[in-house]
Parts: sequence; C-alpha cells; structure tokens
Amino acid sequence: MSEEGTVQVSLAFDRRSPEEMDAISREMLERYQSRRTVRHFSTDSVPMDVVERCILAAGTAPSGAHKQPWCFCIITAPDVKKQIREAAEKEEYANYHGRMSDRWLNDLEPFETDHLKPHLEEAPVLIAVFRQAWEPDEVEGKKQNYYVQESVGIACGMLISALHESGIAALTHTPSPMGFLSEILKRPAHEKAFLLIPIGYPSKGCKVPDIARKSLDEISVKFGSETK
Ligand SMILES: Cc1cc2nc3c(=O)[nH]c(=O)nc-3n(C[C@H](O)[C@H](O)[C@H](O)COP(=O)(O)O)c2cc1C
Repeated sequence: MSEEGTVQVSLAFDRRSPEEMDAISREMLERYQSRRTVRHFSTDSVPMDVVERCILAAGTAPSGAHKQPWCFCIITAPDVKKQIREAAEKEEYANYHGRMSDRWLNDLEPFETDHLKPHLEEAPVLIAVFRQAWEPDEVEGKKQNYYVQESVGIACGMLISALHESGIAALTHTPSPMGFLSEILKRPAHEKAFLLIPIGYPSKGCKVPDIARKSLDEISVKFGSETK
C-alpha cells in the first residue's frame, strides 16, 4: 500500500526495440498528419460500438488527481440535434455579426465558416463534452476537481485521435457561449460545456482548407546536444 492507501500494481510496459519504435512512430505520424477537421458530413450512420470505444479511449486520459472530470454526451436523436443547431446558430449569428473582432473574422476567412451550422443536423452523431468543475458531495457540498481544463482538453485530444484512428471524422466546434448545451441536455450544475464535436463520415467531395502545419523547429526548442 502507498501512503495514501492505494494498492500499487506492476506496470505492464513492453520496451520496444529502436527499430520498432522508429517504424511505429513513422506510421503514427503519417496517420496523424492525415487528420483534418471536417465541416461537411454525410448523413450515413457510424457504428456506435466504435464511437463508444473511442469515448472509452478518451476516458484513459490522465487527469488531475485522477478525478476524470469529464462527461461525454452522445447525441443521435434528430429532435435534440435540431434544438442544438437552432441554439448554436443563434449564438453564432451574434458572434459573426458583432461579438467577434475584425481580426478574428479575418483569421476565420480561410475556413469559410459562418453562422449557419447544417452539420449539427447532418452529422449522425454529436458528442457534447462537459467538464466537471467540481463533484457534488453529500457531506462537503462541493468536492474540488483539479486542472479540469487541462484534463478535459487532453481527453478531447485523445477522443479526436481515437476517432481518426477508427475511421471517423470530427469537427472540433465551439459555438460560444455554450450554455445552451447544458439547458438542452439538462446537465447538472457542476458540469459546464467544453466542446461540441460532430462526428461521422465526410460528405462526398468534401473539401478542407489548404493549410500548413508548423515544422518541428517552429514548435519545439531543444535544451541538450542529443539529436538522435
Ligand atoms: C478549441 C478549438 C475550437 C475550434 N472551434 C471551431 C469552430 O467553432 N468551428 C470550426 O469550424 N472549427 C473549429 N475548430 C477547428 C480549427 O479551425 C481547426 O482545427 C484548424 O483550422 C486546423 O485544421 P485541422 O484540424 O484540419 O488540422 C476549433 C479547433 C479547436 C482546437
């Protein structure tokens, strides 16, 4: 037992050969590089057991003090999707017609987005991710969670990667403010909407903006001489 009383178990970790690591990391990077945010979806349904496994994969994310402060709402009901689209378009109309700065609107131009969000009804599944700022507790009232934004952000990254690995496209969507999601989905007070992620197959002939990703030199700084 550790000081906190948690039983310690042996870690299952297979150390790979340098050759295996090289090959696996090359394949991994190629798969990751092919992931794109999709904004035009086919209405075809996706296998729900695959979606559920991706959510379980997201649930393996590390979290502050292992509080796992997330909840993933899986929405397929057409009437709920319609309500979400209508509420999101209302917020996005206000965003695109006054709330966003000119610079922001300019930065969004390559993505050809506007306040209309048909994908919220066309995508077969919407995943609304909620962060749990605290946990309700009978004795203490509220029990604190830690590093909630960081933890849920990591879990969402893992979800998006797991979906991509499984052959499902996703849109990371933030129709802010997202309070309407709590109301429509009747979420408890300790949960706050974090991201709305429509998922499915890309529509036929789906196009994505031609963007570049930063190089290793641009996104990293080395402290040490070891290069290989
Ligand atoms: C936190 C976050 C919020 C985003 N919100 C939106 C959004 O509301 N609408 C949208 O079309 N794309 C949104 N995106 C997607 C980005 O525009 C997209 O990830 C970026 O342009 C890079 O494209 P890629 O994902 O295809 O590499 C969001 C991405 C992140 C990480």
